[in-house]
Amino acid sequence: MRIGTSWAGSIVRRIASRGVSNEPSDQPTRVRIGLLGCGNVGGALVPLLESQRGAIAARTGIDPVITRVAVRNTARDRGIDLAEGVLTRDAMAVVADPDVDLVVEVIGGIEPARELIMAALSAGKPVVTGNKELLANHGAELFALADANGVDLLFEAAVAGGIPLIRPLRESLRGEPITRVMGILNGTTNYILSKMSNEGADYGDALAEAQRLGYAERDPTADVEGYDAGAKAAIIASIAFGVKVVAGDVYHEGISGITAGDIAIARRLGYVVKLLGIAEREADSGEVAVRVHPAMVPIDHPLASVRDSYNAVFVEGDAVGSLMFYGRGAGGNPTASAVLGDLIDAAVNLASGTHGALGTFGRARMRPIDATSAEYLLALDVADQPGVLHQVTGVFARHGVSIRAAEQEGAGPEARLVFITHDAVESAVQSTVRDLRELEVVRRVGGLLRVIGS
Ligand code: HSE
Repeated sequence: MRIGTSWAGSIVRRIASRGVSNEPSDQPTRVRIGLLGCGNVGGALVPLLESQRGAIAARTGIDPVITRVAVRNTARDRGIDLAEGVLTRDAMAVVADPDVDLVVEVIGGIEPARELIMAALSAGKPVVTGNKELLANHGAELFALADANGVDLLFEAAVAGGIPLIRPLRESLRGEPITRVMGILNGTTNYILSKMSNEGADYGDALAEAQRLGYAERDPTADVEGYDAGAKAAIIASIAFGVKVVAGDVYHEGISGITAGDIAIARRLGYVVKLLGIAEREADSGEVAVRVHPAMVPIDHPLASVRDSYNAVFVEGDAVGSLMFYGRGAGGNPTASAVLGDLIDAAVNLASGTHGALGTFGRARMRPIDATSAEYLLALDVADQPGVLHQVTGVFARHGVSIRAAEQEGAGPEARLVFITHDAVESAVQSTVRDLRELEVVRRVGGLLRVIGS
């Protein structure tokens, strides 16, 4: 991590004045943690930190201890050991407490998390957060504030839960010409699609099962319509390409329109349907395209074998080739593991008067979805009579969309036509679909699925 030399001296003095000494000593340096939020992730962090304290001290010389915890309901039994007086409802008081050196924010949402994090950073306290919504909307200003105050703002838990991805992108791969990062960034939708694929379940039943198991919320919109994956994709694009991408820059389609029939067609053709977050940079123009949509992934692609609620992220770079990161993208313990890793890093840096910095984020030149290209699968129900194929393929030709493969299924009054195109531009494919709907012989135009990774 880069050392903020101009700040180091003053930070070391500030740490010392708050009682955290960095003088050489046999005793580990105590770093006092203020925890904002003690739900699924915070509640898992407390015992994990307690069980690892000895090992952390032995390895790093740092003894992190949770001194204050802000929660909404202080009366609730959380099944964890906290000393008398540690719990409070006043999150800002935790941030301001002189007995807090470092703040962990696991409340989620934009406000009051933003205000609390800004207050902590401005007071020279490093922050560890798992807040993807906040970072996908206000990341650049918060990173700049952390840097200006010479402290860390670390957020491994914000993308893909327990999977180490942010640190590899910002450190190990910081010299890599990354061309594309694509991944299964949402466990709930991967569970639903896996169930539809494995058991032939329809969307509604698979969603109900995901809700019963606690994967999907009662209102599943953020997951199933791609907002959650979109926020993560925005953060990934910002870190991978060093440009400012916000959630509103990300095109997203969810999985609620995917049918068991779409999945069966994809499977017959050798593909698996996955909800992918994709961030790409075009080498010549430097344009960045970030999108979330269901996609057909070839069955032999590493992402195709990622099942149930697991996440995986595939990184492609000119020098390194392909890398894949795989694991639990959500859940209290995996996410707490990511938070703890950041917490140790931030505590070590604090005690030695250094901090890491992400550098400057340039302005992103976003490529709109209309200008992106892919292979597409399109299924149509048509009248089964002479000349229909000619009419239909004529529409593809008129828009310059070249067909790579086609098949016809069924006989009698109606048939199903399935086309896979060569690489085609989104706007041309959308125009093709619009004109196909106008044809009298076309009874129904099915969902459009992009083909990825072939
Ligand atoms: N709801 C998310 C998922 C986890 O299903 O992956 C939090 O981002």
